Amino acid sequence: MLQDKEKVIVIDFGGQYNQLVARRVRECNVYCEIYSYKTDIEKIKAMNPKGIILTGGPASCYEEGAATCSPELFNLGVPVLGLCYGAQLMNHVLGGKVERASAREYGKTEIVTDSSSALFKGVPENTTCWMSHFDYISKMAPGFRSVAHSDNCPVAACENRERNLYGIQFHPEVLHTPEGSKMLYNFVRGICGCSGDWRMDTFVEDSIRDIREKVGNGKVLLALSGGVDSSVVAGLLSRAIGKQLTCVFVDHGLLRKDEGDEVEAVFGPKGNFNLNFVRVNAADRYYIKLAGVSEPERKRKIIGEEFIRVFEDEAKKIGKVDFLAQGTIYPDVVESGLGGESAVIKSHHNVGGLPDHVDFKEIIEPLRNLFKDEVRKAGLQLGIPAELVFRQPFPGPGLGVRIMGDISAEKVKIVQEADAIYREEIAKAAKEWKKENTGDRFADESKLSVDEIFSRERDFNPPWMPDQYFAALTNVRSVGVMGDERTYDYAVALRAVRTLDFMTAEAADIPFSVLQTVMSRIINEVRGVNRVFYDLTSKPPGTIELE
Ligand code: XMP
Repeated sequence: MLQDKEKVIVIDFGGQYNQLVARRVRECNVYCEIYSYKTDIEKIKAMNPKGIILTGGPASCYEEGAATCSPELFNLGVPVLGLCYGAQLMNHVLGGKVERASAREYGKTEIVTDSSSALFKGVPENTTCWMSHFDYISKMAPGFRSVAHSDNCPVAACENRERNLYGIQFHPEVLHTPEGSKMLYNFVRGICGCSGDWRMDTFVEDSIRDIREKVGNGKVLLALSGGVDSSVVAGLLSRAIGKQLTCVFVDHGLLRKDEGDEVEAVFGPKGNFNLNFVRVNAADRYYIKLAGVSEPERKRKIIGEEFIRVFEDEAKKIGKVDFLAQGTIYPDVVESGLGGESAVIKSHHNVGGLPDHVDFKEIIEPLRNLFKDEVRKAGLQLGIPAELVFRQPFPGPGLGVRIMGDISAEKVKIVQEADAIYREEIAKAAKEWKKENTGDRFADESKLSVDEIFSRERDFNPPWMPDQYFAALTNVRSVGVMGDERTYDYAVALRAVRTLDFMTAEAADIPFSVLQTVMSRIINEVRGVNRVFYDLTSKPPGTIELE
C-alpha cells in the first residue's frame, strides 16, 4: 500500500523544476509527493516523512510576503534539504542572512565540494553544477558550515550535521549538474535512510490489490484512446478485475495508419488482456460533421463533442457502471493545484470534457501518483508492448489538426500514408544507430528485463532523435512534373521536434539523407503529393501541431 511506503515530501516554492526534483527522488526508488509551501505543518507531520526537500522558487526570501515555511519544519527530527531558494530560506528562517548579489550567477559553474559531507559521498572534489540565483547566503545560520563553494559563491552548499539540515544553492535535479542525482541519492538513501522500496513491479502488485478492494464486484468503464496513459490503465484494470472492465475505443477516422488495428491487437479479443473491448468505427460520423469545416478551433470542437456523443451512445448500451476510469497522471494532479483533494477531471483526449450522460458513481484513477516514465515502466511490467508504451504523444483531435483546412477521407488517407513512411524511415535509421552503438547489448529481446527495455527505449537513441515527429498535410497545392506530366498536387510538411516539456521545442536535425529518403518515398508512393517541406520552426513562435 502506498501509505506504507517510505515517503519524502517535496515542498514547492514555485520553482520551475519542482516536478523534476520529485522525479529524481523517485529515480532513487524513493516515493515522494509534492506539496505547496502553504501546506499546514500538522499535515506534513501526519504524513510521517523520512525526509523533506524544499525546492527553488522565484522570490527573495527576505521580502515581505515571500513564500516561507514554519521554523518548526526544521525541528521535526526529519532531515531537510533546501535547494536554491529552499537553501536560502532555511538559513534565513534559522537566523542567517540572505542578500542580493551584485551579479546573477547563472549557468554551468565549477564548484569545490567537501567530501566529508554526507551529501557529497562519492562526488569528485571538483565538479560542475547548474547555478541560477541572484540572492546568496551571505551569513549561514548558527550551527551550519559551508561544504561547497564556487568562485563567486562562498556557500554553494552547507550543512548542520547535528540537526540533519542541508542546503544546496545550485540545482542538483537538472542534467547540467552531472553529479546531481548522486547528491539527491546521498540525501534520500543515505541521510534520510530510505531503503528504496518504490519500484514499479511492487506498484503494479499493490495497485492490483487496491483496485480489487475498491471495485469489489463493480463495473468499470474506460475510454481507451490507445495513448500511453489510458492503455496502462486498461492493462492494470484488466489484470485486477478482468471482465468487470469495459473499454470503449473510438476510432474517429483521424488516427494514424493502422493504429486502430494495433490497439485492437493488444486489447481486443485476440490480445493478451482479459476485458470487454468495444471498438466503435465512427469515421463516417466524423467526416460528415467535419465536411467543409476549415477553421481550426471549430474542427477541434466538433471532434471533441462528437467523441462525447459516440462515447455516450456506447455507455448507454452498457448501462449503469460503478466507476469511470481515467488516465490522470501525477503531473496533471500537481498542475491542477498541488496535491489538492479535488480529482482532476481529465477529459478524454483532452478536448471535449466529460460526458454528461454517463451513469457512474465514482472516478477511479489508478495512475494518479505516477510520472510519465513510471507509467511507461508499469506498462512494460504489465506486458504492454514497448511500441505502445513508448508511443509519441498524439493529440486527441488526431489527424484533424494535421490536415490544414477542411478534412476529407481522401486527405486523411494522404496524411496517413505520408506519416507512416516518415515514421518507418525514422524508426529504421534509429534502429541502425542503436545497433551500431549498443552492439549485442539488447540483441536478445527475450532476456531483457523491464529496466533494460526501458533504458533501451529512453537512453539509447541517436542524438538527433525527435521527441515528436509527424507528417501534416498543408492546404498548399503547387505545380510539379511527374514523368512527362504536369501535376497540381498537395505539399506535405514534415515536423520533428526536440523538447523536454512540449512547452518549448526546437526542430530536430534529422540527417539530411534520412529526410531525402522520406521525401522520395512520399513523392513516389503517395498519390496526390508532389512536394515535401521540412518545418524548421521552433516553439515559440510556432506550435508543435500545425493547427
Ligand atoms: P502544441 O501544438 O500546442 O502541442 O505545441 C504541444 C503538445 O500537445 C499535443 N497536443 C494535444 N494533445 N489534445 C492532446 O491531447 C490536443 O488537443 C492537443 N493539441 C496538441 C501535441 O501533439 C504536442 O505534443
